[in-house]
Amino acid sequence: MRVIAVFNHKGGVGKTTTVANLGAGLARRGKRVLLVDADPQACLTVHFGIDPESAEKTIYDVLCRDLPFRDAVRELEGEALLGVPSHLDLAGAELELATTMGRERLLKDAIERYLAEVRKLPNSNTRAAAMGLCYGGPYAIIGPKRLGFDAGISCHGSQMLDYIGELEGLARPVCIVWGDADHQAPAEVLEAYRAAAGRLKHLELHVFPGVLHGYMMPEATKAFHQPTRDFSMGRALALLDSLRTEQAGQRRAR
Ligand SMILES: Nc1ncnc2c1ncn2[C@@H]1O[C@H](COP(=O)(O)OP(=O)(O)OP(=O)(O)O)[C@@H](O)[C@H]1O
Ligand SMILES: [Mg+2]
Repeated sequence: MRVIAVFNHKGGVGKTTTVANLGAGLARRGKRVLLVDADPQACLTVHFGIDPESAEKTIYDVLCRDLPFRDAVRELEGEALLGVPSHLDLAGAELELATTMGRERLLKDAIERYLAEVRKLPNSNTRAAAMGLCYGGPYAIIGPKRLGFDAGISCHGSQMLDYIGELEGLARPVCIVWGDADHQAPAEVLEAYRAAAGRLKHLELHVFPGVLHGYMMPEATKAFHQPTRDFSMGRALALLDSLRTEQAGQRRAR
């Protein structure tokens, strides 16, 4: 599995344009691509050739109007390139949802429903893992803990102390890889995770000396570290393999 994050704090530098073109390029190379626009600016939606002011059935409707996620998915270039548009109204969603009970669960519920649909696909073995880096790192924990994923892998994750408590009692494998020169994993964070890994059977922690935050990304010229990246990908594939074997074992046992 290859994870590509397009990330830059600066506005208007071509992040969305890169995502749109990567998606189209991957689709032309035969991959099945789903582009989801979750930005109220809706620039990716403009790339879809859709006017975000008049768009209907958008991510806004999924979050605020109970529209099933699959109903917001559109074919952009046949089945190879799919897209979920955004709407300018998404900017007001936070305010609009302020009085909605369980608003914090809306995205969770939508992801869970979609995961259930993915699992029903004929070529799915029903097992799915969440892999995250940077701000996505916490999804390696939230995925198996709250969203029904079967495993989680975090590479140079940020804000991980906020989620460490969620690992208690988790019976699904979680793998966390950090460099010990990662500014997002200073001594106290590493210490907390080392202690947790010592106690929790399903948590594995791998710390690489001298490796920086961003080691997964070839564009992060200072931080990129091929051996740590290779290790992370190797562990991710091994975890997926173990899920497959476990499932085959369960099938045989039935
Ligand atoms: N390679 C390029 N050459 C010229 N113009 C470009 C290029 N890439 C993007 N642009 C233009 O720059 C503008 C900003 O691009 P884009 O919306 O992709 O940036 P962004 O980083 O996603 O912005 P934001 O932070 O607001 O989300 C757009 O008008 C886009 O068409
Ligand atoms: Mg953008």
